[in-house]
Formats: sequence, C-alpha cells, structure tokens
Amino acid sequence: MTSPAFIFVMQKRPFLLLLSLLLSFCALALGWSLLFAQDPTPTIDRLAPPPTVPSPGQADDGAYLFWLNCQPCHGDHGQGLTDEWRAQYPMEDQFCWNSGCHGKRPYEEGFTLPETVPAVIGENTLSRFVTAGQLYAYVRTAMPYEYPGALPDEEYLAIIAFLLRENSLGAGITLTEETVYDVTLRPLPTATPTAVSASINSGDTDIIAIPLILGMVGSLLFVGVIWLWRRQTH
Ligand code: HEC
Repeated sequence: MTSPAFIFVMQKRPFLLLLSLLLSFCALALGWSLLFAQDPTPTIDRLAPPPTVPSPGQADDGAYLFWLNCQPCHGDHGQGLTDEWRAQYPMEDQFCWNSGCHGKRPYEEGFTLPETVPAVIGENTLSRFVTAGQLYAYVRTAMPYEYPGALPDEEYLAIIAFLLRENSLGAGITLTEETVYDVTLRPLPTATPTAVSASINSGDTDIIAIPLILGMVGSLLFVGVIWLWRRQTH
C-alpha cells in the first residue's frame, strides 16, 4: 500500500534532494564563516577604564573611581595584587618589589609596597569589617595606600557602593555618611563569579547551533529521500 506521503516524496524527489543539499551547503558555509569570523583569542584590555553607562548610579561612579585609584594594586576584579594581575602590566612595571620601584629602596619620593595586597571582592574578602561603615572608615583613612585620605568623602562612598555591589551586598541603596553604617557585610553571600568570559562563550554556542541544526535537517532529508527511493526501486 502506498501512502499519500510516500507518493508526495517520490513526486517531489528531485526538489527534496536539491533542498537537502542546499540546506547542508548553507550549514557548511555558515559554520565556516562563523569559525573564521571569531577572533580565536578575544583580547579584552583589562587596564582600560570601565565602560560608561547611561545615567550612572553611585556604584557606577565608584567603578570608575576604583579603576582610577584602587585597581592598580587591588586588581581589575578586586582580586588583589596577584601574579596574574601583575602580568597584565607592561613588562617594566611587573616587578613591583624591585629596588627603584616599590621595594625596600623605592624611587625618590616613592613608597614601599607590602608584599601582599589583599583581595577586596569575592568570597572571604573584607572579613575584618562587620559593616560597610567600618569599611568606609578604614578606606577613607588608609587608602589609596600611597595617598591615604586623598579623596573627597563622596568619592570614598561611591567606591564603597561599588565594592558592595560587586560583593552582592547592600541591595543597591545609595550610601551617605549615615546609611553606610546600616549595611552589614556579614555573613557575606557567596560571591557571584565574574561572568564576563562565561557569557561570551554561551553566546557563541547559541550561534554555532544554527548551522548544526540546518546541517542535521539537510542530512536527514537527504538520507530519508534516498532511502525511500531505494525502497521504491527494489
Ligand atoms: C599602592 C597600592 C594600593 C592602592 C592604590 C590601594 N590599596 Fe588598598 N591596600 C593596599 C595594601 C598594601 C593593603 C594592605 C594594608 C595592610 O594590611 O596594612 C590594602 C588594604 C586595603 C583594604 C583592606 C582589606 C582587608 O581585608 O584587610 C581595603 C578595603 C582596601 N585596601 C581598599 C582600597 C581602596 C578602596 C582603594 C582605592 C581608593 C585602595 N585600597 C587603593 C594597597 C593599595
């Protein structure tokens, strides 16, 4: 018994074969172009200032101020002065503790940097501060390390707002000299991992899926039509 579907496929056989080949070809071409359109090593300038945002809030201002005043020592993700972070610097600036740099004998009017600069963003950081107010009081009198107390209070508050946001704390309240003491840091919630690279990758995978699906549909169609055709001729 021949079903109407079978008859349809047999009648449209040349067209279906052509369509399947076309689909497969599109898939190949798309996959190929995607493969080569992608920069194999996306270079993000980690020393660059944070991107500007429309109508920036306190924490956004803080992000810029952190970049300007704190990031050189505390890292682009607040990770501290790790070897990995120092490696982002131009070669001549990577060896902070050499004499003539920030070592025991610093350059004229320079300063000696402690061997470790702590992380300020992420799990188990800022553990000695119970409230954002305490953090503010400390940062305001002790940081930036080489010029303690150099910034205006509202800039320190903006930087604290940024640190709170990055540590998923404070629920985005605007900090003032008063409200800063209302925010408790303990217990710190589990820090969200920096999603920069992860999101780039997942985006790419989505696009790659298109030629994959096209190719699969094309191949299935091709195999199906050939199979039916053979069944008919035998
Ligand atoms: C020149 C390097 C340098 C710069 C710039 C700098 N810091 Fe620091 N920071 C340090 C060092 C070194 C320590 C450790 C000091 C100590 O233990 O006495 C530290 C400690 C801290 C701590 C205490 C962390 C903890 O858990 O004990 C915080 C918070 C902090 N810095 C925030 C800032 C902020 C905010 C800025 C920018 C306004 C800044 N720092 C700029 C070097 C720096």
